[in-house]
Amino acid sequence: MIAAIIAAAGSGERFGASIPKALIQLGDRTLLEHAVASISAVADQIVVTAPSGYEAQIKSIVCDGITVVTGGATRSESVRAGLAAIKGADFVLVHDAARCLASVDLAKRVVDCLKGGAVAVVPVLPVVDTLQQVGADGNVVAAVDRAQLRRVQTPQGFTYSVLQEIHQGAQDATDDSTLALNAGHKVQTVIGEERALKITTPSDLATALTFLGDATTFTTGVGVDAHAFAEGRSTLNDAHGQGHRDLWLAGLQWPGENALEGHSDGDVASHAICDALFAATGLGDLGSNFGTSRPEYAGASGATLLKETLAIINRGGYSISHVSVQIIGNRPRIGARRAEAIATLSAALGGADVAILATTTDGMGLTGEGKGIAAIASALVIKR
Ligand code: CTP
Ligand code: MG
Repeated sequence: MIAAIIAAAGSGERFGASIPKALIQLGDRTLLEHAVASISAVADQIVVTAPSGYEAQIKSIVCDGITVVTGGATRSESVRAGLAAIKGADFVLVHDAARCLASVDLAKRVVDCLKGGAVAVVPVLPVVDTLQQVGADGNVVAAVDRAQLRRVQTPQGFTYSVLQEIHQGAQDATDDSTLALNAGHKVQTVIGEERALKITTPSDLATALTFLGDATTFTTGVGVDAHAFAEGRSTLNDAHGQGHRDLWLAGLQWPGENALEGHSDGDVASHAICDALFAATGLGDLGSNFGTSRPEYAGASGATLLKETLAIINRGGYSISHVSVQIIGNRPRIGARRAEAIATLSAALGGADVAILATTTDGMGLTGEGKGIAAIASALVIKR
């Protein structure tokens, strides 16, 4: 029996997105889904380590039968959390969700090496750059001979007992082969592959796209929406219940702020994003998709419309690379709740990268007169 642990609990600090790195979209799916797809070809049991708070979201995007556990503060701790959920395997593969494009062939090479008697296996690639040791002063101290050095990748493979043994204590390392080596085990190598690169920064994502093989094109779209503040606020009837009195904007309720008019919840930021996505994909607009011919969307919340828009563009073969929205109005002050709003819109858009900006119009025009709020959104989408 072959089990696999997919380490996906990192926050992706160096990547700098508002969502965990494993949930970033690459082509038509998240990094994690890419990683799961190739590992499931060789593993009978898969355990995914999720960042704390993202367990349910991760559970919803992986297949039934995959175990999701909460990861730890370090990669090694996450692997230990995953290992605790594995029972009775002969071999265990440990893979980084960040190395999402590692191929099935690579996983098979690792498994074959284990079946041939290895207790610890790592995929490696030669180093192509000249290597030098640099001192704290920034000056080169010594040249390093690269001939004997290798770049180490995942999936790495271990017998169940060796992986158990090297994770007995609280050892920490950036990978498991280092722990196996430190514990005195023989670590064997197989040939790695460039496509198993670790996505660390946004530029790695662009490199990874080139490995997806099929033609990928980007398109952009712009969407605009504006609503006036409601006068008879208590008569509003929408997705959040009859007679709501608060503003809904960017997927959030704003207690104490004037509500906007509109046949839905009047969330101009969400509506502008929907239209930007429709514009980028040529799949109509808010009216043609959710208008009078679809009465079930009358009064739908902004988040519901975003989710449905995502489903429509996904069915059309598109995925979101990035969405940004600028809210134009005197109130409310967006800054203090920006992170919350980004998280809410991003969640409605399947973890897409979202930016939210806000501005006033210096007392000029519709929103400057304080009569309402407008939003302009742009979307960058990927067509596969
Ligand atoms: N990982 C994990 N648990 C942690 C830290 C990392 O499961 N506490 C996983 C990451 O999700 C990733 C893999 O280990 O798939 C390799 O880590 P890395 O590329 O460093 O990802 P992050 O730690 O998320 O990124 P950063 O170091 O930039 O924050
Ligand atoms: Mg890390």
